[in-house]
Amino acid sequence: MNTSTSPLPSVDEKPTYVREMFSDTARRYDLMNRLMTVGQDQRWRRMVIEACNLPPNGRLLDVATGTADIALEAIKQHPDITVFGSDFTREMMLVGQMKDTDERIPFIEADAMQLPFPADSFDAACSGFLMRNVTDIAATFAEQKRVVKAGGRVVCLEITRPATPVWRDLFHLYFHKFVPRVTAWFSSNKSAYDYLPASTLAFPRPPELKAIMKAVGISNIRYRTLMLGTIAIHVGEA
Ligand SMILES: C[S@@+](CC[C@H](N)C(=O)[O-])C[C@H]1O[C@@H](n2cnc3c(N)ncnc32)[C@H](O)[C@@H]1O
Repeated sequence: MNTSTSPLPSVDEKPTYVREMFSDTARRYDLMNRLMTVGQDQRWRRMVIEACNLPPNGRLLDVATGTADIALEAIKQHPDITVFGSDFTREMMLVGQMKDTDERIPFIEADAMQLPFPADSFDAACSGFLMRNVTDIAATFAEQKRVVKAGGRVVCLEITRPATPVWRDLFHLYFHKFVPRVTAWFSSNKSAYDYLPASTLAFPRPPELKAIMKAVGISNIRYRTLMLGTIAIHVGEA
C-alpha cells in the first residue's frame, strides 16, 4: 500500500494501478484523448507512423497499442504492412479490436518490458503515451531495440514539460486544472485525476529521454517537440 501523499503509486504497485486505471477508462479513452488534446492526438499518431519509415510489406510492433489508434493509422498509411498491437490491458485492446473491423491486427496481451517476440522480428517498433506508465523506461526501450532489426526505427510519442517559462506556467494550469476535470468526468477512479499530471512531472525531459535511449544502444536519436513543447516524438535506430 502506498502510504505517502504522492499521487503516484509505488514501483511495486504501479503495474496493477496502471492496468486498473486503463481498464476502467477503456471505453471512454478515445473521447477523453480527443478532448484533452483538442483534437491533435491523431495528427501526432500520423507523425509517429511516418517516422517509422516502414519498408513495403514491413512488420511493425505498436507497443502498448491501447485502443489501437496508432496501429490503425499504420494500416491506413501502409495497407501492405503487418502490424501487431501489444498491451497489458485487455479492456483497451477489446476497444481496439472493435475498431479493427477488417481484423488486420493481431492483438497480443503482453508487458512492454517482456515482449513475447524473438529478436529482429520487426522493421520498426513504436509506442504512444506508454513510457510515463512503465516502471523501467530503459528496459522498455531495450526490449524494442531487441525485437527490431538492426537499423529499423524505434519511435516514442509522449507528453513532456515545456522548457519556456510562460508555456511552463500555462502547462501547469492546463495539467493541474483542466486535465483533472476532464479525467473526473470520465473516470470513476478518483486517484486517476492526479496521476496524469504527476506522472508527467516525474517523466524525463526530452534530452534525458534521448540519453536513456542511447544508453540501451539505440543510435542516431533525434526528437522534435510539438504543441508548445508539451509533446515529444523521439526517433532512433535499433
Ligand atoms: C495512454 S494509453 C496509450 C494507448 C495508445 N498507444 C494510444 O496512442 O492511445 C497507455 C497504454 O499503455 C499500456 N501500458 C502501460 N504500461 C504497460 C506495460 N508495462 N506493458 C504493456 N502495456 C502497458 C496501458 O495498458 C494503456 O493501454
